[in-house]
Amino acid sequence: MSSPFSLQADQGAGPLMRDSAPGPCVALLFGITGDLSQRKLVPALFHLESTGALPENFAVVGLSRSAGDVEALRRKLGEALERHSPNAPVDRAAWERFSARITGVSGNLEESETYERLGAHLSEVDQARGTLGNRLIYLSTPPSAFPTALTQLKQAGIVRHAVEAGSELPWTRVVIEKPFGHDLASARTLNQQALEVLGEEHIYRIDHYLGKETVQNIFVMRFGNAIFEPLWNRQHIDHVQITMAETIGVVGRGRFYEETGVLRDIVQNHLLQVLALCAMEPPVSFEADEIRNMKAQVLRSLRPMPNGSEEGSIVWGQYEGYRAEDGVAKNSKTPTFVAMRAHIDNWRWNGVPFYLRAGKALKSRVTEVSFHFKSIPFCLFGDEQTCQMIDPNVLKLRIQPNEGISMQIACKVPGEDLSIGGVTMDFQYEGAFGRKPPEAYERLLLDCMRGDATLFARRDEVEYSWAFSSQIQEALERGGNEPEVYARGSEGPGAARELLRRDGRSWVNLG
Ligand code: BG6
Repeated sequence: MSSPFSLQADQGAGPLMRDSAPGPCVALLFGITGDLSQRKLVPALFHLESTGALPENFAVVGLSRSAGDVEALRRKLGEALERHSPNAPVDRAAWERFSARITGVSGNLEESETYERLGAHLSEVDQARGTLGNRLIYLSTPPSAFPTALTQLKQAGIVRHAVEAGSELPWTRVVIEKPFGHDLASARTLNQQALEVLGEEHIYRIDHYLGKETVQNIFVMRFGNAIFEPLWNRQHIDHVQITMAETIGVVGRGRFYEETGVLRDIVQNHLLQVLALCAMEPPVSFEADEIRNMKAQVLRSLRPMPNGSEEGSIVWGQYEGYRAEDGVAKNSKTPTFVAMRAHIDNWRWNGVPFYLRAGKALKSRVTEVSFHFKSIPFCLFGDEQTCQMIDPNVLKLRIQPNEGISMQIACKVPGEDLSIGGVTMDFQYEGAFGRKPPEAYERLLLDCMRGDATLFARRDEVEYSWAFSSQIQEALERGGNEPEVYARGSEGPGAARELLRRDGRSWVNLG
């Protein structure tokens, strides 16, 4: 039995960090008419415009095959914005202001001539808009285009300033979208290629999960409260579950998904980043590199699974009907679901399983982390039946939806008998602060403009995550196993339930 009650937020508390306003710059969007740009990047920049968060001297320059037709480009982006803002009407005045900042260059990414024209256009924009040569370059192109784009940008002198002067002004920061590589070897090659063009401090490897407010709140919850840290270890925590469940299937991205599958799409990046934040040691400060050092240590300590698993610790699934999706092979073995038992081999977490679960076309959309504490060491409440009513405490961090934190505790049920039930203390962001958390991309784009790389993955983190994931993927491909088919709208394959049942545990229900 559970009866939620809400906590009162301290509305007077200030933000964690008082961030500086970003300075003048151009956001150069490769693939400006592509899906990511239309769905996420342009709406995020537009929202920053509406809230007055963008600098006065700011411009957007798009690069794509047809972006040179500026009127058509603005119209197309405006229509996409309407489509992707179904719940709130677009503020027309803000859109007029914002769209006036957008210009574009048409061209083929392979050709050096494109970059010459792009360089000339950027200089004109600097003159017209006072953007001082500062560049945020967002590579939202297919990963195969990254190396060419980086090399061409260098040859055309567009990233020249930061490399040669090693100074802050004018600056160039390049945001690279996931997937960052396809496996460990390709991620290393890509890192090498990027580092030939830019210093590590200019490379922003984006994982939009780190921009989610509730993911950032993992830091604050752990290190802004004295009560959790003493419990945050193998002495008190029995196991941890990290779930990312989606209700949607591959929605038109079948071809892309055939090459990635759930492990590359979700586990290697989003889930392992969340795991690293939950499991890391306290950093000595809130500086980007201090936090990234600690995360990298966790990723490095993930116990390898050289055969893909110790027997039975990974379950693969594929949703019913996946093979009929556009761009998917009729006999595809690509998994759309994975559940696994992972271990972090270090002093703090030795012996504590981290169960990871991710999948598409499941019963509900939920991303959450739950910390399952150990049972009480001795039961004082008489008979065995009463004692069995006491469930171990569970602390849940709900990343989405209904962002918040809840804690399940045992409580006396009112009445003359001693009867014990579980209650849930529940804090919800929206209820407590009166507003929904902002979109991840807004935060990340602003951070990049400000030069704050805290919420972006560093080279070593990406490579450690790949080192863990690649061998699992390779074993999967070697083994040629058919993933278990699960019904759309279900909790996933039965074998996933079995994985935890064998360990005497069970998954948190999917909503
Ligand atoms: C992306 C994946 O990185 O994250 C998609 O490529 C997935 O397959 C998406 O649907 C989920 O993001 P969010 O923010 O909706 O949880």
